[in-house]
Amino acid sequence: MLVRLARCFHKSPLCMKLETFIIPQPGEGIAEVEIIRWLVKPNEKVKEFDILCEARSDKGFIEYKSPFAGVLKELMYKSSEMAQIGSPLFKIDVDGELSSEPTAEIKTPESQIESEHEESSGQYVKKAKVLTTPCIRGLAKKHKLDLTKVTPTGKDGRILKEDVLKIIEGVQQPEISVPVVDDPKHISPPLMSKTTSTPEDKIVKLTPVQRGMVKSMTQALKIPHLTYSEDVHMDEIIALRSQLKANIKDIKLTFMPFFIKALSLAMLDFPIINSVFNENTLECIYKASHNVSIAMDSPFGLIVPNIKDVQSKSIFEIAKDMNRLQDLGSKGKLTDNDLKNGTIALSNIGSIGGTYVAPVIMPPQVFIGAFGATRPRLEKRGSEYVEKQILATSWSADHRIIDGATTARFVARWKALIENPSIMLLHLK
Ligand code: COA
Repeated sequence: MLVRLARCFHKSPLCMKLETFIIPQPGEGIAEVEIIRWLVKPNEKVKEFDILCEARSDKGFIEYKSPFAGVLKELMYKSSEMAQIGSPLFKIDVDGELSSEPTAEIKTPESQIESEHEESSGQYVKKAKVLTTPCIRGLAKKHKLDLTKVTPTGKDGRILKEDVLKIIEGVQQPEISVPVVDDPKHISPPLMSKTTSTPEDKIVKLTPVQRGMVKSMTQALKIPHLTYSEDVHMDEIIALRSQLKANIKDIKLTFMPFFIKALSLAMLDFPIINSVFNENTLECIYKASHNVSIAMDSPFGLIVPNIKDVQSKSIFEIAKDMNRLQDLGSKGKLTDNDLKNGTIALSNIGSIGGTYVAPVIMPPQVFIGAFGATRPRLEKRGSEYVEKQILATSWSADHRIIDGATTARFVARWKALIENPSIMLLHLK
């Protein structure tokens, strides 16, 4: 989306024709994106379709490309900042040659306010950020009050009218801080010194991934969950994996591809498990594709991409897909397509630890499985005790449409495949 702005800057003899790039709507219900990084600096030449910026929303990774050739003039947001959909992201001088002017700074709304303050105070304060309205600035000016000394109580550190009034009316002393100075002569003597060392609370904004989790988990926990647990013997599959691992290169083969394939095979006999439920029409759609969503721990929080069409993939192909999704997930580069249309979910917390959990369904899906760590356990065989490797599994079903008996039968089928992986091989094409 573009806004055409032809402008001449009075400081420059050069007449610029600026095109402003407006952040387009990446998907329904998304209000903002997180800027990951800029690939080009201000005052650099760019070509049409050059990727200028990488960002992410709670639905996936986004690249913003230049719609024109020209010179990049202004970046409106810094890395890690949240950018509002529909707001300007960057400006390009489409007639522009590289100017000899100093490189333009990133102009965030905050930095605009900051520079306004520098101009209006015109004195020694250089770096203090003051977020407030022109009306409050006027009030402060009238009472000769330095706004950098006022403790803000508004959102994002904004100074509110009452913050200023408290000081004017003498209820509160202005904060004393050591300003960054050009000329030390301009420092006023402090009114009082700070003596407390009380630890301060920190406000942390949620990332898009975390915001997505707020929405999805709140929605999910409206569903009546039936949770069921089962212990599974892993000895056979441990032996099989070791054998296969010794014969493959370049693919990381963990237990997950076996768990995923067994899930898909078991679902052939229990299609309701791979369904989505529409509570408005009271219809259940049995999905033809087994798109298995995998809960992944990533540097950006919990992400849940899915492996598509598991029913027609081999264990190796599933392993390759897992590797690809884990790699993209760790770089924050999963796309909307990787994240949408999952039909059932699995979560493996076992590499971190734990035994049983109560997994949360991802609506409109109706079923989820979760695995804890595999641990040794002594079991009696005849008169002897033998050590067995046991995987603790937990399953949640949408109890509005799936009952406990169906859940128990389905999990028993899955468990039989894991405990006797040769049966799994019989089904493979
Ligand atoms: N039991 C025994 N060993 C396990 C195991 C389990 N339950 N889970 C993992 N391991 C082993 C793997 O086999 C691998 O061993 P290896 O190096 O010998 O091959 C090792 O632990 C590391 O596995 P990992 O890298 O975690 O791969 P994975 O395929 O088992 O799991 C993910 C992939 C994406 C599921 C996992 O990395 C992850 O992110 N888990 C966290 C999910 C989460 O946060 N869930 C909570 C949702 S609320």
